Amino acid sequence: MMNHNVLILGSGGREHALAWSLSRSPLLGELYISPGNPGTASHGTNVALKPAATTPSTAGPEAWFETVASFIREKNIDLTVVGPEQPLVDGITDYLQVRDCKVFGPSQAAARLEGSKTFAKWLMHKYQIPTAQSVEFSGDTVLDDLEGWLSVENKNWPIVIKADGLAAGKGVFISRNREESLEHLNKIREDETLRNAARRVIVEEFMEGEEASVFAITDGRNARLLLSAQDHKRIGEGDTGLNTGGMGAYAPAPVMNEHMLRLVEDTILYPTLGAMQLEGHAYRGVLYLGLMVTDEGPKVVEYNCRFGDPECQVLLPAMKSDLLEVLLATVNFELDKTTVEMSDEHFCCVVMASGGYPEAYKKGIEIRGIDDVSDDALVFHSGTRMDDGKLLTNGGRVLSVVAKGPDLRVSIDGCYREVEKISFDKGYYRCDIGAKGLKRS
Ligand code: AMP
Ligand code: GLY
Repeated sequence: MMNHNVLILGSGGREHALAWSLSRSPLLGELYISPGNPGTASHGTNVALKPAATTPSTAGPEAWFETVASFIREKNIDLTVVGPEQPLVDGITDYLQVRDCKVFGPSQAAARLEGSKTFAKWLMHKYQIPTAQSVEFSGDTVLDDLEGWLSVENKNWPIVIKADGLAAGKGVFISRNREESLEHLNKIREDETLRNAARRVIVEEFMEGEEASVFAITDGRNARLLLSAQDHKRIGEGDTGLNTGGMGAYAPAPVMNEHMLRLVEDTILYPTLGAMQLEGHAYRGVLYLGLMVTDEGPKVVEYNCRFGDPECQVLLPAMKSDLLEVLLATVNFELDKTTVEMSDEHFCCVVMASGGYPEAYKKGIEIRGIDDVSDDALVFHSGTRMDDGKLLTNGGRVLSVVAKGPDLRVSIDGCYREVEKISFDKGYYRCDIGAKGLKRS
């Protein structure tokens, strides 16, 4: 059996889950993670991979891509797995592929499904993929034009205002009335990142329903569904307060029953893959469908071009098949010859965060109790660092704790039992992860 050397790019809980899952594969040779974290270090070797110190600060992402490419050559890496969206949107896959490196992750043109909301909307409209009705604003006076449009009567409130580009989760505003929409417009004007992301803006109808995500791995033509999952984006219980990267997840999502999943495949997943092929940008990698289950069926809220974080932390423990085998089949266009088997158990993940997140928070606080966690549960590191043998907090989201059970209730209770064993000063977690799913199950 041939062993494959693998490089994972990224540093969060998602990348720790990827490292954990790949390290279980008999096909794995050496595993490297860049930059990784103390959790990934127990499954492979963390490497820094920064552009040379002499690189001018104005150099684009290619300076870093070249450092990655040199490392791949030096260590005979057979597969690079890209965790976060930014390098994909910046074109790392294209850069490495023309240098004969195999990459799990879409090309730059295909990553526009996440990187450009106007592209995603255009594609869905052209290929009749169900989504919210929308109008687009662009050009030099985009925000003034939008202000003019907002002041015209006869709108069906609420409406959703979305900046086109990547805006670290801050670029979507749900406005209940005209006053609120004008406040939101001002927020965009006052924030440089948002202003840049809002060179084009989409305004869309508000979709009523329950949100859920569906994940599929695809080689462009063939796809394998993983599971559905539900994230918890807001910091506060009952989905209140500021948006975060995600405070917890569970899988599967009861709202995504078999019938819904078939609808998602038939009306969204395969039509999207077909559309991308027809447009000449076959989508390869993991496709994350952010959906609203409405009275009219599932509709697309957003596409993402990578695993979710913390959804990945429940999806990979639920995967019975060998992840490395599946990723290799994807990059070798052989997914049709590979089955992906998922567990029929339920999985729950609670994110432990630093007090204050997603606003200002302290770092460097000692984390206690991880060694007491039961062997049946998993702890993935997000924002941690080791200092003199002590594990310290080093980010907003600190740890993801994952447990499984024969039903959602057991997985939630098991997860919180383990969470309670871990502590750090001012640590915070939501106590209602999975509650929405319990109502339905
Ligand atoms: P997005 O970044 O496009 O996923 O939007 C962030 C969040 O805003 C989503 O997870 C939804 O909760 C909400 N959202 C976005 N678009 C809509 C819509 N058209 N109708 C209802 N909620 C939406
Ligand atoms: N958890 C949401 C995301 O990864 O985008």
